[in-house]
Amino acid sequence: MCGIFGYIGNQQATNLLINGLRRLEYRGYDSSGIAILNSKISHTKCIGRVANLESVLPENMDGNCGIAHTRWATHGGVTKENAHPHLSEDGTVAIIHNGIIENSRALRNWLIAEGVTLQSETDSEVLAHLIHRARCDGLSPLDSVRRALRQTRGTWGLCALFEDEQMIVCARNGSPLVIGVGDGESFVASDPHALTPHTQRVIFLEDGDLAVLTAGGVQTSRLDGDSSDATVTTIDQSWGVADIGDFPHFMLKEIHEQPESLRQCISGRTVLSEGNGKLGGLDLSAKKLLEISHIRLIGCGTALHACQVGRLAIEHMARVPTQSHVASEFRYNNPVISPAALYLAVSQSGETADTLSAVKEIQLKGGTVMGVINVVGSSIARQCGRGVYIHSGPEQAVASTKAFSNMVASLTIFSLQIGRARSLSKRDGKQVVKALNAIPNQVEKYLEDSGPIMEAVQAVKDAPHVLFLGRGASAPVAREGALKLMEVAYIPCLAYPAGEMKHGPIALLEEGSPVVVICPNDKFRAKTLSNVQECKARGAKIILIHDEGDDEAAIEADIAIAVPATHSVISPLLTVVPLQLLAYHVAVELGRDVDKPRNLAKSVTVE
Ligand code: AGP
Repeated sequence: MCGIFGYIGNQQATNLLINGLRRLEYRGYDSSGIAILNSKISHTKCIGRVANLESVLPENMDGNCGIAHTRWATHGGVTKENAHPHLSEDGTVAIIHNGIIENSRALRNWLIAEGVTLQSETDSEVLAHLIHRARCDGLSPLDSVRRALRQTRGTWGLCALFEDEQMIVCARNGSPLVIGVGDGESFVASDPHALTPHTQRVIFLEDGDLAVLTAGGVQTSRLDGDSSDATVTTIDQSWGVADIGDFPHFMLKEIHEQPESLRQCISGRTVLSEGNGKLGGLDLSAKKLLEISHIRLIGCGTALHACQVGRLAIEHMARVPTQSHVASEFRYNNPVISPAALYLAVSQSGETADTLSAVKEIQLKGGTVMGVINVVGSSIARQCGRGVYIHSGPEQAVASTKAFSNMVASLTIFSLQIGRARSLSKRDGKQVVKALNAIPNQVEKYLEDSGPIMEAVQAVKDAPHVLFLGRGASAPVAREGALKLMEVAYIPCLAYPAGEMKHGPIALLEEGSPVVVICPNDKFRAKTLSNVQECKARGAKIILIHDEGDDEAAIEADIAIAVPATHSVISPLLTVVPLQLLAYHVAVELGRDVDKPRNLAKSVTVE
């Protein structure tokens, strides 16, 4: 989603800003812009890629201080006018903004009534005018931003530049901003990984924080004028932007990284002799695990599907009632929060606004919420304070692949830990631990020979819609397969628990309709194969994901894709891989922008 990068120091800012935006490109955006301070503020913006912006930059855009932005449209279409930065009418104030100004309509009307000519359809532009008006009233840059934000309702990651001041004023509320502390220079970005080439010393701003950046340092304070608790921390340099290597796309690279990232996630976190899991970051004793009344897992998109797999694993192993929730719905349904329950917020980016809001709602109502997160130091990880890092490493492609696997693996380890504290026998626990430890090699083996994926691509690529079916742990895998194909190939997909198909979606089937069925050799297999018959009877073309050696199942399919067999609780870790490959190859075949699909953002920082 929208990205922010800012710089003040002794270097020429323009190239630094463009490179900073490049490191934010993976988040998804539709336009970009830059403002540089010299004697005056000069600015350029355009729609499309950062490369377009670079190609239209005027040659003499020199200066040691500037701000740059990638925009993902919310209020107002994808136009040059709506791209950031936005400037005050006299051009002396420039702002870039992530988030949503909820009372922008009223503020726009008021500004127009005051005689201001607005240049864009955006909610963000009002900030430039409000700040400028405060400057005209004689307030300092910092106090001008403070006053403007007090007139505003909503979320912001904001940077403001002033014609007559060598500084950038930043503010955060609900939209991440990280300050990079350099030697004689300061940086700001919406994503810490944009900062790592320059500095590892960062300040994560909290909601309600403001910061004044100069070449000499950073001064933080609170919106209400109090002092801020913000401190400098050191982030891991190794978490840079991943190199694409010899792969044509990050998505394919990340699919192939799964064996290694699963090893990173599982290693040292299971105890075979005890059949147990060991997640130190939870800081939950066996006694505390025994006292948990119920568990709620919360996430969006792929993370939600991982929650749905995790829910089944937890109930299976620990016999504790568990629910998974769509994060965007959670907070608004006035959820009953019990102090005896455990809440787990699952997110790759750790910045998803819907999930973060759910976390805050739970905490506000006295619940305990822990993170199951990939990005170290992200907003949700910090808001939760405790939890599990899934250790996928950087995921660049908008379509999440290796993070799904590591979320499922992490939740499986959690299931073992709570299971062993409650009802899971050592013998059964050992079986899961053994199976889990074998998974990375099994995924590796499957990726060496992924079966007739390209045949499946031909069956799917021109279809008007694709139906995905599965039962038990394979039902969320079906949803994940459908989500992947929709987001990267733009083919409408439906996913249903296989038994539910005859209650409606079967009406879609006609001669040649592709139906992808996930059917590992678990207790649901026979029933799923009956549903396959029902589809075949209506002319559907069956693409079946089944266990290696299960020839009885394979024979029912038009295209049969075998994956290594494993324990039924963790079969999603294998069955999801051919679905990821299917989505990827269909998207390539259709000429889609695989790593940056249209309209999507990697990090969804607005609700
Ligand atoms: C996955 O392929 C999607 N791009 C999307 O659904 C994603 O999983 C969702 O936005 C949640 O993101 P998070 O894991 O960073 O919270």
